[in-house]
Amino acid sequence: MASQDASSPTAEADIAERVERRWAILSVGIIVLLALLAAFAGIHQATMPQGRVETANPAKLHLDGEFVESNLGSALEPDGSVIVRAIGQQYSFTPQCMVVPVSTQVTFRATSPDVIHGFLIQGTNINTMLVPGYVSALPARFDKIGEHLMPCQEFCGVGHEGMWAKVKVIDKAEFLKLGGDRRRVTCVD
Ligand code: CUA
Repeated sequence: MASQDASSPTAEADIAERVERRWAILSVGIIVLLALLAAFAGIHQATMPQGRVETANPAKLHLDGEFVESNLGSALEPDGSVIVRAIGQQYSFTPQCMVVPVSTQVTFRATSPDVIHGFLIQGTNINTMLVPGYVSALPARFDKIGEHLMPCQEFCGVGHEGMWAKVKVIDKAEFLKLGGDRRRVTCVD
């Protein structure tokens, strides 16, 4: 029969159609794969906090590790910079008043033991979330002496409105004097 002859025009058309369909399926497959990759990358990035993720067990913050109460507040580092460690919980920040020296490299490190809170320092571009389980670390530098309010800006429950702290920027020499014999400095006491 003529249709079984591979060199006949109908058989050639059949083969061409089959090859074409195979390429069409392959190209649709590639498009679907790329779409899935893009979706995965987007969702993965959107659901992950900060690039360099540091974790802290929210149930054990008060027991051991970086965020035990005696370790909260401002600490002078050997390189002259200052690290301020804080906790935001329903419905307050600890320490309630953070003190930092003027014109000094400062790093805020904070987390939450319960729900998500906001960490915003008015008059600066510092604005992040405290997420239970994760450490939020932010670099800062204050070039003027003064006070900044720190209202919680993520709704965290009935006491949200009253949840705030403040950052007091003081003279460098005064800060060093305040530090003196103590390991951690705050302006609460
Ligand atoms: Cu904490 Cu709102």
